[in-house]
Parts: sequence; C-alpha cells; structure tokens
Amino acid sequence: MFQKIILALVLICGVSHATYSQTELPIIPKPDTITYYNGNFSFSNDIKIVASKSNYSVAQQWLNESANLNLNRSAHASKKVKNIILNVDAKNLTEGYMLTVTANKIELVAGKKGLIRGLATITQLAWYASEHNNQIPCLQINDDPAFGYRGVHLDVSRHFFDVTFIKKYIDLIALYKMNTFHWHLVDDQGWRIEIKKYPKLTSVGANRAGSMVGPYRDHKIDSIPYGGFYTQKEIKEVIKYASARGITIIPEIEMPGHSMAALASYPEFSCKGGPFQVSTGWGGFDDVFCNKESTFKFLDDILDEVADLFPSEYIHIGGDECPKSRWKECPVCQEVKKKNNLKDEFELQSYFIQRIEKILESKGKKLIGWDEILEGGLAQNATVMSWQGIEGGIAAATSNHYAIMTPGSHCYFDHYQGEKNLEPLAIGGFTPLEKVYAYQPIPDTLKGEQRKYILGAQANLWTEYMYDTKQVEYMLFPRLEALSEVLWSDSLNRNYPRFENKVIQHQSLLKNWNVNFAKSYLRPAVIISPTETLGELTIQITPKENQKVDLSWNNSDYEPYTDLVSIDESGLLKIRSILNSDTVTLVKNLTIAPSSGANVTVLTPTKGNYANPPATLTDGVVGEFPWTTKHWLGWLGKDAVLTVDMKDTFAIDSVKVIYLNDRGSWIHAPVSMTIQNDSVNAVQVLKNENAICSIVYNKPFFADKVNITVKSIGKVPEGNPGAGSNSWLFISEVMVYGHKKNER
Ligand code: ACM
Ligand code: ZN
Repeated sequence: MFQKIILALVLICGVSHATYSQTELPIIPKPDTITYYNGNFSFSNDIKIVASKSNYSVAQQWLNESANLNLNRSAHASKKVKNIILNVDAKNLTEGYMLTVTANKIELVAGKKGLIRGLATITQLAWYASEHNNQIPCLQINDDPAFGYRGVHLDVSRHFFDVTFIKKYIDLIALYKMNTFHWHLVDDQGWRIEIKKYPKLTSVGANRAGSMVGPYRDHKIDSIPYGGFYTQKEIKEVIKYASARGITIIPEIEMPGHSMAALASYPEFSCKGGPFQVSTGWGGFDDVFCNKESTFKFLDDILDEVADLFPSEYIHIGGDECPKSRWKECPVCQEVKKKNNLKDEFELQSYFIQRIEKILESKGKKLIGWDEILEGGLAQNATVMSWQGIEGGIAAATSNHYAIMTPGSHCYFDHYQGEKNLEPLAIGGFTPLEKVYAYQPIPDTLKGEQRKYILGAQANLWTEYMYDTKQVEYMLFPRLEALSEVLWSDSLNRNYPRFENKVIQHQSLLKNWNVNFAKSYLRPAVIISPTETLGELTIQITPKENQKVDLSWNNSDYEPYTDLVSIDESGLLKIRSILNSDTVTLVKNLTIAPSSGANVTVLTPTKGNYANPPATLTDGVVGEFPWTTKHWLGWLGKDAVLTVDMKDTFAIDSVKVIYLNDRGSWIHAPVSMTIQNDSVNAVQVLKNENAICSIVYNKPFFADKVNITVKSIGKVPEGNPGAGSNSWLFISEVMVYGHKKNER
C-alpha cells in the first residue's frame, strides 16, 4: 500500500562506507534501513533550521523539549552554518521519508505527510546526541510505515483532560509516528464538546454529581461534582495543532448506547422520557436513544456541527454495548421495527446505524463504529473497530469492509501492565509491554486481498481509573512505544530484548517531556516450576542485563539471588530488582499445598485470554483482585472439569478451589463443586460478596487422580451487567490436602 521513496543515493560524509561500531541507535519505531557512514554531525545552538514557518515551529518546539536546543529559522540553506533542512516534495503523497546526515547538515526529503515523521526521527537523534557528546554518526535513513492507520484513543468523558494536556498527548503520539488521535468525546458520564444548537448538552451533560471511587465492585460513589468540556474554539485550536504534527483527529459521538449524558440534557430522545442524571458510576445503562424521527434530526444537527469542525474523513459513532431492553418495550421502536420488516432488536440497531451512515454521507463523511455495528447487518461503507477480540475485524475484512484492530488482549492500555500489587488501580486484564510488542494486527486467518482491509491498529485508553494526566501518561508509556513499532516497522525486524533496551534509553527522552512513564516492564522474569516432588516448587528468576536481584523470605533481610530457589512451605517471597536507579519489588504470596506442582488436566475448554496453562492452577500463586489475566483460568458459560494427578494414592482430607466474584465483569461465583471420586452430593457455594473466595470439599476419600467439577451458573442472572449473556467462571488455584496413603 505504501510506496517506498526512491531517491538517488547522495554521497555522504566522505567516500567510504563504514559500519557504525555502536549498537543500533535507539530510534522508536525502528526505521526500515539505516546506513552508517564515517564522520559525525554535532548539534549546537548555531544550527539553522531551513523550513516553512509552520514546520519550523514544530521542529523548534520538539528539539527544545527533547534536547534543550534553541535553533533559529533560515529561509535558505547556507554553507557558512550547519543546517537542518526540511524539504517538502509536494508530489510524494506517502508517509515515508529519507533522511541524510553529513558532517555539516541534516537533510530531510519527504512529502507533506512524511515530513513530520522524519522530523520525529531528527528529534530522537537530537535527544540521543544530547546524551552522547552532542554527536550522532553520519547516516542515511530510508523509512516508511507498515500500516496506514496508527491510532491512539483517549476517553475524556470518564475523566476530563484540558487542552494543554491534549496538545501534549498529540506531541507525544506524533513523536512515536502515530497518525490518528481518536477523541472519545462523549459517554454516559459526560458530554465534552460544545454543540451550539443544543447548549444543554454541555450546560447539563458535561457535569455529573459525583464519581465512582475504588473498584467497580464496591459501588462507591462520591458526591464531588465533576465536569468540563471543550468549546468549539478550543476544538479548532486542537485540530490545528494536531494537523501541524501530522495527526488526524477522529471524533467519537457515541450512539445509540452510552448516551446518558445526552439524555440527561434532552430526555425527549429516549424511549421513556426521563428524567435522567449524567451517570456517576461506570458500566452500562439501559436508557439509550429511541429510534424516533426526532432523535435522527437531533443527531443530524449534532453531526452537522461535528462534521464542520473536524476535517477527518471519518467520524466515529460508537455503536458499542447498546442494551435493547428499552427498545423491546417502546411502542415507537416496535413500530419502526414493524414498518421496516426488522426481525429483532439487533436489526433495529443495524437500522439505526445505517440511518446515521446516510446522515454522515450527506456531509461527506464516512462512518467508523465499534464491532457491535456488525449486529443485524453492517452498514454499506462502514469501517469496523474490532475491540471484543479480532473476530469483528475478520468479519469486516471477509465482507470487504475496512477494519481497525483494537482487541482488548493487546490494545487496551487501561489494563494492568505489571504485577497487580505494584500497580495503581486499573480495570483489570493484563497487557504488559512484551505482549503489546508481540501483536500482529493482521489475523492469520485472513488471506490474500482480505488482508488489505486491516488498516492498522489503535491503543485505547478508557479513563475510569485514570484520574489525572499523570495516570494517563503512566498507562500510555512505554506501551505506546511497543505499538508504534508494531505498526510502523517491518515485523520481520522485531526483537524484544533489543526493543526493551531502547525503551530503557527512552526513559530520559520522556523525562525531558515531563512524562510519568511506567517502569513495570523492568521486573525480572519469574518462572515457577514443579519438581519431581509434589508440594515443592522451584523459582527461577531471569534478571535484565545489569539488573541486581535480591530475595527476602517472610520479611527476612534481603540476600542476593544466585540460583534456583526451592519452596516447600507457604510464605511471602519478595523479589527486589535494581537496575540503575530503578527498583521494582515483586511480592509473591505463595500458598503451598501437598498438590502444588501436580499435573492438572482441564477437560472443558477455557476461553480466549483466559486459556492459561493448566499448571497455573497448582503453581502456589493465588490470583489477585482486581484480577490480571495471567493468574486466572476462565470458562465462558461452561463448567470447569479438572483432574489433579497426585501421582500416588492419597488419603485426601479436603479439596479447595479458589474462584473469583466480579459481577461488573460478568464473572460469577460457581453454584457448586462435585468430587467425582466420591459419589456424594455436591458442595453448594454459599453466597459471598468477597472478590476472591474459596469452596472447600472436606470429606475424606482416597484417590490418586482427583476429579473435580466446578459448576458454572451459566447465563448472567437478571439485574447484573451483561444479563442473559454467558457468564465467566474464573479459577486461580486448586489445592488438594492430605498425605500419601501409606505415610502419616
Ligand atoms: C468498548 O470498549 N466498549 C469499545
Ligand atoms: Zn424507543
């Protein structure tokens, strides 16, 4: 899809071709090719930038923030001084660029779009030089992106971030060569864009009476009023700022669900008429836009102002998580359904989206929606943002629709990125740096021409648990660096250790920008393995290069880690690792049972991100809450049927299973546990509101293989988020207590 820039190779820095003795320059994302030559270029404040006023202004700002340089502009290159020349080749429409560094000049040649990408590279080179005698080697870079859509999203409804921060966000994503900012401007908890025709959207809809505090399951709401919105004047200012940095802004106006802020302002566009409050808690809500004509007129007027403001060819209309209960009971919606021969409420959702697509088309815009816009049939020219996994993207591509991949597994940066006990409260999930880096946006199942329908991918930052800008930065960095390389660089050149080394170096660049980045990735790798002996585990730690690791057992003094550690009793293991000045301490609360390390067979399939290795169930580590993916196995709408192999016949005293209760995430307690070895009644699970709970079967029996069935509740019961859908059953650990039959 992307044309390479083909330009005659210019003679650079003397005649000879030299290999640069240093390892790879830490440019993120990794450029296609870098060729090194003899000689160096030195940065200093007497360098002149030869560029248009607009490009100069960005160059000056980026070089100043990144490398503390203060460079003046010159209209023309001069041999008397060193120059950074930004040459625009108007005929080149790609995002590629060619950068040449000789001893006395840096010259960038690119089209209008590629220029800012090349400038991001120059900026990173200048920052690198600022830490290496102000020098970089002479070189030539030829570079262009693997994917045309490289997005970063930000939810400003759950928490609001002012224009100053939005501009910083745009600078930061542009420095890593992303090209799209998906601005999630409205949701249940606040409408954040001024609409002149409907002033109550902001006078009412931008303010809520309080906010949820702590994890969702506590259902605690404070009474501190919260609000904020962008005026159209501010929006225009941000669009201009983004445009100068090569960033397209796609605004999102959510419909038909996630519309409580709009309905609190104008309840007449709901099915029941209100009154409504702007939501204070997180989660989904039953009241949504009604399919009445006046709603479409209202949304047409809003989209008219939005389309006038934003030059982007796309407008995102949400479309996700729209409950259908109000539509089922609403005479108007039922009448629309009947009149249009629609089979069910899913087809009604499709009708709604297709109406909106026509409205957008009349304004010269294209529609993007979350993957629920596939429900009941996809609008003709819609682009799908695949978030519930990759299936939405595959369905779109196989029906010749464009798709943008944002699966929760790799692209949700609201998930945890490190050990839960070291991280600030997050929604859940586990998406560490190495996982983002391993992402392949085009699903393997797509073949040939279908693959070109995957435009790229996007990081999503939902801000329920991002209370301020520092927290947004923390969740974004360094994971953005990984996604940037996934989307820009040639996937064949990916190498995690080499990338991680660059990320460590980039900490100082981010410090110059006053960014609060996470260091969670600096934890050493910890592998817990079974041994020959049941009830005994080994712990192997692999430190990063130059990282020092110390251990403490049950709060003893730290001692250096040297070799495998063997554990055969429960206790608290602290793993402290130090790299330069960064200390990360992992805390492992180990619960050892006679069955620890036992081989487990899982007879009913676990699902998706929660199909973790069965050995997780006997690894001595009880999962935490809020949960991260890696410590829990998850079954969707199914019972967990397991066999624990004790190797010898055991006189078993009890069997304990640790499960999770998190109804906000559709994770429900099981109903019972049965041990098939013993033909007795099942243990019923008592109602318990704790997040992490256990069921214990404590009637003695003899067995070498313990056969356990943990019975799921099946569908999510009424009155809970996700009612009627398959519920999740999450199990973290299975513990069998007792002793070998012939031992006491
Ligand atoms: C989404 O995360 N509801 C798109
Ligand atoms: Zn209705």
